[in-house]
Amino acid sequence: DLSPVEKAKFVCAKRATQFVESGMKVGLGTGSTASWLVKCLGEMVREEGLKIKGVPTSTRTAELAREVGIEVITLDEAKWLDVTIDGADEFDPNLNLIKGGGGAHLQEKIVATASDQMIVITDASKSVETLGAFPLPIEVIPFGWQTTKNIVEEALVGMDVMGRDVTLRMNGDQPFISDEGNHILDLHLKRIGNARQISMVLNQIPGVVENGLFLDICDAVVIGYGDGRVEVRD
Ligand code: A5P
Repeated sequence: DLSPVEKAKFVCAKRATQFVESGMKVGLGTGSTASWLVKCLGEMVREEGLKIKGVPTSTRTAELAREVGIEVITLDEAKWLDVTIDGADEFDPNLNLIKGGGGAHLQEKIVATASDQMIVITDASKSVETLGAFPLPIEVIPFGWQTTKNIVEEALVGMDVMGRDVTLRMNGDQPFISDEGNHILDLHLKRIGNARQISMVLNQIPGVVENGLFLDICDAVVIGYGDGRVEVRD
């Protein structure tokens, strides 16, 4: 009784639980697809005796993980993780990603980078030839954010992109606030020609904490389809 989209998200999450074994420390992603993963892992903990420690990438995921019975620890308690499983907003043929549509990419990137493996779970709609149709999120500290936005806009001139609009992410009539107390700027680039360059340039701007490009971080993408099929790309 799941819609095709929900079914796709569920089957890729279910398939990705095969990357998890008892004794592992597991990074738990954020978003609607990652929620399915957390629920599946919770069921395995409760009913199959799976023993894992989970490091959530957001307060939302931490709440859900505890609710379904997963032991939650901090990244600093874990120090290093066996695997992180998370959703994405876009992935390209080289398994490079845009993340942060849910505003959690800062913690997600820290956790994924501290993992032996990062597995992305997604429906087929997130597959692109070239990244950038999905607006690239960057987390910026609230202090002087308008100045930071101006500098970001200037930095985009001369970059290999098709669009240069930058918007402050809102939550109703207030700026969105991330788990770390920061704002998000969405960069409407349409097409990112040189992701490595953009990522480096953005992260060098004072006030920018982290951008949503995940380059050379993801090891495999598990793609779910509405008819229940699953495909693994690595
Ligand atoms: C959260 O900040 C994002 O990076 C998510 O991973 C991304 O938005 C995917 O979410 P869905 O699974 O809900 O599409």
